Amino acid sequence: MTDARAEAERLLRRFASDTNLLIAGRPMTVLGEGVVAAYLSDMLRGMGARVDGGQSGQDADSTAADRVVFDTDTGAITLGGNPTGGRGDAAGRLDFAAAHMPVSTAIAAELASAGTLAGLSVGVSMTLEPKTANLALLLASAGASVAVYAHPDETDPEVAAALRERGVPVDADADATPDQELAGALAFIDRGFDVLVDDGSHVTRLAHDQRPDQVRRWLGATEETTSGLTPLRAMHAGGALATGVVAVNDAVTKTGFDNRYGTGQSCVLAIADLLDTAGASVRDQPALVIGYGPVGVGVAAHLRALGADVRVSEIDPARALLALHDGYEVGPADALGKDALVVSATGWPGTVGPDLVDAAAAVAVAGGVPHEISWHGGLIAVAPHVDRTTTGTLILDRGGCINVTAAEGNPIEIMDLSFATQLAAIAEVVGTRPSIGVHALSPTAVDHVAATAARVRGVTLAPQPTPASALHSDWRSPRYAVRPDPSETS
Ligand SMILES: NC(=O)c1ccc[n+]([C@@H]2O[C@H](COP(=O)([O-])OP(=O)(O)OC[C@H]3O[C@@H](n4cnc5c(N)ncnc54)[C@H](O)[C@@H]3O)[C@@H](O)[C@H]2O)c1
Repeated sequence: MTDARAEAERLLRRFASDTNLLIAGRPMTVLGEGVVAAYLSDMLRGMGARVDGGQSGQDADSTAADRVVFDTDTGAITLGGNPTGGRGDAAGRLDFAAAHMPVSTAIAAELASAGTLAGLSVGVSMTLEPKTANLALLLASAGASVAVYAHPDETDPEVAAALRERGVPVDADADATPDQELAGALAFIDRGFDVLVDDGSHVTRLAHDQRPDQVRRWLGATEETTSGLTPLRAMHAGGALATGVVAVNDAVTKTGFDNRYGTGQSCVLAIADLLDTAGASVRDQPALVIGYGPVGVGVAAHLRALGADVRVSEIDPARALLALHDGYEVGPADALGKDALVVSATGWPGTVGPDLVDAAAAVAVAGGVPHEISWHGGLIAVAPHVDRTTTGTLILDRGGCINVTAAEGNPIEIMDLSFATQLAAIAEVVGTRPSIGVHALSPTAVDHVAATAARVRGVTLAPQPTPASALHSDWRSPRYAVRPDPSETS
């Protein structure tokens, strides 16, 4: 039984690592009549795939471009009829990502034909892997001059080289020392930008601290993630913010998909991969997710799909109730974390302290701010990205943002939607020159990104109903419409 589930999980994880594609929403066929096929179908459905299978699965068009077919008898996995696993070198991975980012491509083409970015310079400070490289190329194709920066831990050196070969300057070095790292970040800021695209607001904050003159000449900045917005809002409240920032993270086309589905899939599969190398697994194990924001919701759902017994700890009453209604046991971390895989999804330093680490079986971070977890004493290396404390708890990726530093980041289609939202936000910064502060992306821009994504992904929308203004032109409730008095008609 356990072996069949392990085999099903291995197939699922192989699809994700071969392709870096999203499971949620994807048409998938699972061939085979055995228990592996049944377990695999359940796991994929639990992660949001549209699965058909068994004999009936053979009727589906297995060569449709986005359909994945798992043959549980042979172990073969195909995408659009071709075996997965052939993305090749960094240039090949970049091209593969670009081919699966139609939403960003469409929005960038609109910006190019409108000339929105012509003559402007855009700095991109983000984890440097194939999807970010494609964002830089799309910005360049839309007429901007672009430079890219990434932290050493978040730099894929081969992708950096491939991007330089395609003409984009890259201020990132995976081997930089902390001093070189600071010098590299400042050199990036000193290039001077009209718009800064940031993730975690690290460069935005550094520029405010050490290059305030550069900040003053920006039209504005965009911020990708929750933990980047928190300090920017605090800076604004304290009068320290000196630029307008569009909160890309808060648009539903970002948080509703990237934080929920993307981080859920990529963090949980990275955790399962790492536990596997240490001879452990999430199947049938207790797991505690701390924080039930969009990231925690996705992580909990994906852990449950792989067969973990998931519990949740939350400080926010509405989100704790939501976890309860999603079917999880909810309670304090120290009670629920004993012997469990503990995953922090809070984005707050100090979430998992040394005592909880000692009580847990394994600990990982799905969000990612420094010092989100801490432990007593030193660590003993077990496998790449896996250590053990002196008290025996496995520490995954030393508390790093696990899908970024120990895997290939979020799935491609997820970043396609996030980067389409980024492109819309960059256009909004250019078009509106936002006042100092943190601003929501306009509903019109968010709707446009969502409608573009629905169109390119072949989602047919329901016809528009009668507009509310027409329905309510007579505002009186029909319930109390004046009826003729029956006594007058008799
Ligand atoms: N790795 C990625 O690809 C990726 C993608 C998106 C977001 N993120 C990061 O993930 C983190 C979470 O994102 P989010 O959008 O879900 O954030 P969020 O702020 O919406 O949710 C965090 C939740 O944690 C809860 N919380 C905070 N401290 C807690 C504690 N000590 N115990 C229990 N609950 C606690 C909060 O009440 C909140 O509900 C952020 O750091 C974000 O930047 C990472």
